[in-house]
Amino acid sequence: MTRTLPKVAIIGAGSSGMIACRELKVRGIPFDCFEKGSQAGGNWIFKNDNGMSAAYRSLHINTSRQQMEFLCFPMPRHYPTYPHHSQIAEYFDAFLDHFRLKEDITFNTEVKKAEPQKDGSWQLTLANGTQPVYDAVIVANGHHWDPRWPEPAFPGEFHGITMHSHAYLDPTEPHELIDRNVLVVGMGNSAMDIACELGNRGVARNVYLSARSGTHIMPKFFGSRPADAFLRHPGREPFWWEHIVPYQYFEKVAFPLISWKIRRAVGRPEDYGLPKPRHAFGMAHPTISSEVHIRLGSGDIKPKPNIKELQGDRVQFVDGSVVPIDAIIYATGYKISFPFFDKTVLPYENNDLPLFKRMMSPRYDNLLFLGLVQPLCSIMPIAELQASFMGDYLLGTYRLPDKDTMDKVMRAEHEMMKRRYTDSQRHTIQINCLEYSYDLRKEFKEGRKRAERWADKPERVPTTFPSAVRV
Ligand SMILES: Cc1cc2nc3c(=O)[nH]c(=O)nc-3n(C[C@H](O)[C@H](O)[C@H](O)COP(=O)(O)OP(=O)(O)OC[C@H]3O[C@@H](n4cnc5c(N)ncnc54)[C@H](O)[C@@H]3O)c2cc1C
Ligand SMILES: NC(=O)c1ccc[n+]([C@@H]2O[C@H](COP(=O)([O-])OP(=O)(O)OC[C@H]3O[C@@H](n4cnc5c(N)ncnc54)[C@H](OP(=O)(O)O)[C@@H]3O)[C@@H](O)[C@H]2O)c1
Repeated sequence: MTRTLPKVAIIGAGSSGMIACRELKVRGIPFDCFEKGSQAGGNWIFKNDNGMSAAYRSLHINTSRQQMEFLCFPMPRHYPTYPHHSQIAEYFDAFLDHFRLKEDITFNTEVKKAEPQKDGSWQLTLANGTQPVYDAVIVANGHHWDPRWPEPAFPGEFHGITMHSHAYLDPTEPHELIDRNVLVVGMGNSAMDIACELGNRGVARNVYLSARSGTHIMPKFFGSRPADAFLRHPGREPFWWEHIVPYQYFEKVAFPLISWKIRRAVGRPEDYGLPKPRHAFGMAHPTISSEVHIRLGSGDIKPKPNIKELQGDRVQFVDGSVVPIDAIIYATGYKISFPFFDKTVLPYENNDLPLFKRMMSPRYDNLLFLGLVQPLCSIMPIAELQASFMGDYLLGTYRLPDKDTMDKVMRAEHEMMKRRYTDSQRHTIQINCLEYSYDLRKEFKEGRKRAERWADKPERVPTTFPSAVRV
């Protein structure tokens, strides 16, 4: 039988880009993967020469390895539950070697522009000036590299060191923070890790942690088990009962149970001087730390509310307190950015980019987004599932619903997400892993049936794959 296959470009070879390479390669779909840096692994390459990694020297993962590993290539069993970033980088390197993918990646090659052509294809402009054309593009450029600073900026002026957590490497790089008074802003995982490291005795003189909103802080372990052990790896088939109660199980049973376990293990945030969360556990991206309670409880980190005003070498907080500060680290999160798209290609604001199944805009049937999710679990198994979905789609064994249906589903899901999670730029692409993976599988099945109905028709593959090659 004659099959038509599109030629695909993959932008980025972080963990998302590399699983896309694997899924396309096993299906025999021709592709080129362009990576800005000289190595694959993205965020997990410490001091990555792409200039985009947020990894600090002491970084360990905070989703257990059993949750983070690709199903097609499990992490070594001798790894600890929460490996160091260097082990994660080694794992991804081994993944590339195992599937012989390095030869498919063009390193040191940034994609500067991606422009839709009149015939529906995409023309890329690469850093070396060449302009290859593709039938489809998979965007896997990551969403934790473009620092988000407080907007609007806090009133007043600050004369000390100002940096974003993205630039933080250790207590001496890029700035000497030993024996300084440091203020860390934010209550996410970056803020926790950095405040705890600097709060160690003998590192910074004083560490203040400023929270504008409360958050539940989950320890890494309950007893000897990783805290996320209650989750099934999203790549595995769901249990039978999840077919009946997919999300309700979390809202009604799992989340309240975890919340209770957290209270039993470490108490409430208010017990440590932090603001009381205004949301139930599970309604915001999880903050995970086993250390912050000890540091707060030992006085090594001093809790503070939001900043009111910067006053030269001092900072005033909304409770009226004023403390001398030498350095402010804004651990205030990241912006979703696609510098290679013109603003008109994909208009979106404030990190808010609704997509069908968090992968496609109904506007383009040959532009796919991979790993563009903020899961309650780990990104990798979700990217693995998405990449296999994309592989089937590009192969023609999955067919999309019509554009109106896509649009309707996309809007309904987006509204549901907004209702469910706290209103913040952190929660514009939030998913519940098991619900999402369950839902994606269901869509897979329906799309396969649609594809079968179209099997004998030449329009089987999307119409905007113009130069699809014959194999
Ligand atoms: C400090 C920190 C810790 C984290 N810890 C965890 C964790 O424990 N568990 C978890 O699941 N997630 C964690 N994350 C989330 C993180 O985003 C994922 O772990 C993972 O890095 C996502 O992979 P990715 O491939 O989508 O993006 P990235 O790792 O960011 O990779 C994107 C790749 O695309 C390349 N690229 C970008 N633009 C271009 C371009 N224009 N042309 C060519 N190449 C380009 C980059 O060079 C990079 O290699 C963490 C994030 C941060 C910031
Ligand atoms: N060890 C690890 O594995 C590890 C370490 C670091 C990061 N990560 C991951 O990396 C991603 C990014 O984490 P992150 O902690 O850098 O960012 P984040 O999760 O987006 O958290 C940003 C924090 O800054 C606060 N904030 C934002 N703007 C503010 C402002 N103007 N004033 C005061 N506070 C403000 C937010 O409060 P609101 O909630 O009020 O918006 C939130 O507490 C997450 O997926 C995280 O899990 C993992």
